[in-house]
Amino acid sequence: MSAVRKVALVSGANRGIGAAVAARLAADGWALSLGARSGAVDAVAPGPTVHVRAYDATAEGSEAAWVAEALDRFGRIDAVVANAGLLIAKDVVAAEDADLDAMLDVNVKAPRRLIKAAWPALTAHGHGRVVVVASLSGKRVKSAKSGLYAMTKHAALALAHAVRHAGWAQGVRATAVCPGFVATDMARGLSAMPPSAMTRPEDVARLVALALDLPNEASVAELAVNCQAEDSF
Ligand SMILES: NC(=O)c1ccc[n+]([C@@H]2O[C@H](COP(=O)([O-])OP(=O)(O)OC[C@H]3O[C@@H](n4cnc5c(N)ncnc54)[C@H](OP(=O)(O)O)[C@@H]3O)[C@@H](O)[C@H]2O)c1
Repeated sequence: MSAVRKVALVSGANRGIGAAVAARLAADGWALSLGARSGAVDAVAPGPTVHVRAYDATAEGSEAAWVAEALDRFGRIDAVVANAGLLIAKDVVAAEDADLDAMLDVNVKAPRRLIKAAWPALTAHGHGRVVVVASLSGKRVKSAKSGLYAMTKHAALALAHAVRHAGWAQGVRATAVCPGFVATDMARGLSAMPPSAMTRPEDVARLVALALDLPNEASVAELAVNCQAEDSF
């Protein structure tokens, strides 16, 4: 890391994978602007290189305000990690439109708005980075009760690919990180697998850090990571 710290925005940084990403990037020397619904984050202490702000993915317009605050604080944005996510474990027949809308809001629409708001800053220096924390549920449908969530994560995966294309000429590289079960509150609510058998959030964070660190000429479009054997992952 050069003397000028690169700046990453991380949504949902208060717990689970987002908290692990925040801790990892801080250890790697990134300056951080962290979004959390509560406005509080435990993984890293606020300070000169750590900015924390309240961020609710369902509040349209909050992305632009967050980006403006981050730019005011640091003067640059090098990376966006769109991590905040919502899982409503309902199958596509039992679910109502409201369930789908709630997940589309947090898993798809808010990340797009966040990336859009940060776009002028991400494209300003020729090495912008975007990570969308998608899911293996963005690549296959594994069970009935994850079906509705999988619809939204397929869209999140498409978002990452679309961003990679949209920003390629300006040096933006986008990666969809696609984990299976990760030992967080979300997976504990969905699977009976013991957390110790699940992928650790810290290991997902290592992948996110790698995707942010690789040069423009080593673009990684997707990182699929699993704790169990499946046909393709
Ligand atoms: N755990 C897994 O097995 C797994 C696997 C594949 C992908 N993922 C994805 O990984 C990402 C992180 O999930 P996780 O496992 O860390 O789950 P988690 O422990 O349930 O954390 C979810 C995070 O998203 C935030 N969030 C949810 N709704 C929000 C909203 N409206 N506005 C702002 N933040 C909101 C939560 O904030 P609050 O604390 O305020 O609720 C929390 O920080 C998600 O995108 C998830 O879909 C998880």
